[in-house]
Amino acid sequence: MSMTRRSMLAAAPAVLSAQSRADKLKVAFIGTGNRGSFLLRHGLELADFEVVAVCDILPDRVDNAASAVAKKGGKAKTYTDFRKMLDEMKEIDAVVLATPDYTHREFDIEILGRGKHLYAEKPLALTVEDCKAVAKAAAAAKGVFQVGFQLRHDPNRNAAMQWIKSGKAGKVLQCHGIRHGGDLPRDIPWYFDKTKCGDIVTDQGIHILDLFRWAVGKPPLRCYGDGGTTLFVNDPPGRTVMDHYSLIYEFEGGAQINFSHHYFDPPGFTGIQERVFGSEGAVDLPKAEFAPRTERKRIQLEVPDAGKDSTYMSLAAFASNVMERKRPLNDAQSALEATLVALMGTKAIYEKRVVTWTEIAGGS
Ligand SMILES: NC(=O)c1ccc[n+]([C@@H]2O[C@H](COP(=O)([O-])OP(=O)(O)OC[C@H]3O[C@@H](n4cnc5c(N)ncnc54)[C@H](O)[C@@H]3O)[C@@H](O)[C@H]2O)c1
Repeated sequence: MSMTRRSMLAAAPAVLSAQSRADKLKVAFIGTGNRGSFLLRHGLELADFEVVAVCDILPDRVDNAASAVAKKGGKAKTYTDFRKMLDEMKEIDAVVLATPDYTHREFDIEILGRGKHLYAEKPLALTVEDCKAVAKAAAAAKGVFQVGFQLRHDPNRNAAMQWIKSGKAGKVLQCHGIRHGGDLPRDIPWYFDKTKCGDIVTDQGIHILDLFRWAVGKPPLRCYGDGGTTLFVNDPPGRTVMDHYSLIYEFEGGAQINFSHHYFDPPGFTGIQERVFGSEGAVDLPKAEFAPRTERKRIQLEVPDAGKDSTYMSLAAFASNVMERKRPLNDAQSALEATLVALMGTKAIYEKRVVTWTEIAGGS
């Protein structure tokens, strides 16, 4: 029986989904704690992912991850040693890595060296040298490397950034951000140890600094700032990370980032603000709003995929980047610059002086 064009079109989705089932990426999740289990939840929603293995050094976390896979009708092998997992399961195409920050250099380089596609959590690493080593490994790798700067894929922020990049906000003059909240979660001890997380600019503020550096379109020339621990002194005991700081970055041509981050905020008082002020008007990134500079009005920007979660969107982009061999928006180079911007800010605060991009990045 011959098929009409209409019936062929109607049949197409079924054919495509059968094909995509066969073409699914075999994915392993390493580090299934706070962030890893959130990534897994979204990864399990992706038609392009087949989660074949989960790994964490803590057996109960691996078991929870395997149960989450089973609840979605899948089956994942469980491991407490990721090297053993990668040795045994050669069929793994891609890895999603969410282990603590101090492991990133070593684990990223090893996984990339084994030829796997890698979605690795931020920051790139905790020192300039280590960041450059990861970026170098990514440049030489067979696989696609994408870093967990998922806010670049947040539908509102992404639409706002497209608006800025199209020139509709004019010349970028100032990026103003605040990230005010309560203190870090007490059940994740390494968050409070700056040798393990690089302190709160590199571990937390980095997301917003990444968006702002992207908005300006180049790295800053110099930076200065102030910060420390004034409320949560030795709380929790042994704490070495700050509880507040403010940073100012200057760019060639006069643009500026002005960013304030602290943990003193009463619930619902200020929260998060990310605003880019241009010569034609201001853009609110999380709200995807544009306010023309000389008029009292707001323009709600068109937002493709409005309401979708940024982590879901970032993982979906990773899948399509792997399948279509595309360069990720949050690739090694952008992650290198974002992490160096954070390390630069931290150095300026610790050393109470102006720090230049040249002294941080050198020839990068
Ligand atoms: N992109 C984001 O918005 C975001 C948010 C939170 C955390 N993160 C990042 O995610 C990563 C994990 O942070 P978290 O909050 O989930 O911390 P976490 O401590 O809750 O989770 C880390 C997990 O890694 C496991 N682990 C440690 N060493 C391991 C190893 N050798 N092999 C396998 N598993 C190992 C730990 O047992 C733990 O379960 C960090 O890099 C953090 O910066 C990103």
